[in-house]
Amino acid sequence: MWSIFHDVVAAGDTYVFGADTPRADALAYWFGPGVTPFVAELDSRIVGMYKFMANRRDRGAHIANASFMVARWCAGRGVGRRMGLHCLREAKRAGFRAMQFNFVVSTNLAAVKLWQSLGFAIVGTVPQAFQHATLGYVDVYVMHRALDDVENGLPEQSSGSGT
Ligand SMILES: CC(C)(COP(=O)(O)OP(=O)(O)OC[C@H]1O[C@@H](n2cnc3c(N)ncnc32)[C@H](O)[C@@H]1OP(=O)(O)O)[C@@H](O)C(=O)NCCC(=O)NCCS
Repeated sequence: MWSIFHDVVAAGDTYVFGADTPRADALAYWFGPGVTPFVAELDSRIVGMYKFMANRRDRGAHIANASFMVARWCAGRGVGRRMGLHCLREAKRAGFRAMQFNFVVSTNLAAVKLWQSLGFAIVGTVPQAFQHATLGYVDVYVMHRALDDVENGLPEQSSGSGT
């Protein structure tokens, strides 16, 4: 999990963490209080991970927030989609009413397209909120999806590949 985290943040194109983020910070982010983490395995090897938690405390705690990372070498094989579907179901099962992503980098097409295909809408744009490693300051999206329609029977429309 550490090597996936490190590789993803070192690229500087999707997460705010700097390339020199200490391992302890990554552990706190992924296993802190109130966080529910999962990994995706392929042939007994961890190829992806996600976590969800309450987006805010108390009166904002009915909305979930989640974070996803797939090993770079395994990107584009359906792992992200499988984890996304799993996350929606688990968050629903945990009692959340909706899911909100607070910081989707607008140039991160793989993420934006994936979340849109899973029913998320862009509900806000924060101008130039991310300092991209190669593109400079770029916009960030807030994305949201109600969980009303998420049940165990949520369509597995694209689950053909991956783990
Ligand atoms: C974003 C991420 C989680 C997607 O996971 P993945 O396993 O690569 O994605 P999948 O193979 O499941 O692809 C699912 C969908 O994403 C979209 N997608 C994936 N890669 C894409 C790309 N390079 N360009 C455009 N769309 C892409 C497509 O809609 C795809 O659907 P399709 O297979 O029907 O075409 C993964 O690439 C990742 O960890 N990136 C770095 C960290 C990150 O950006 N996390 C999310 C922060 S919001």
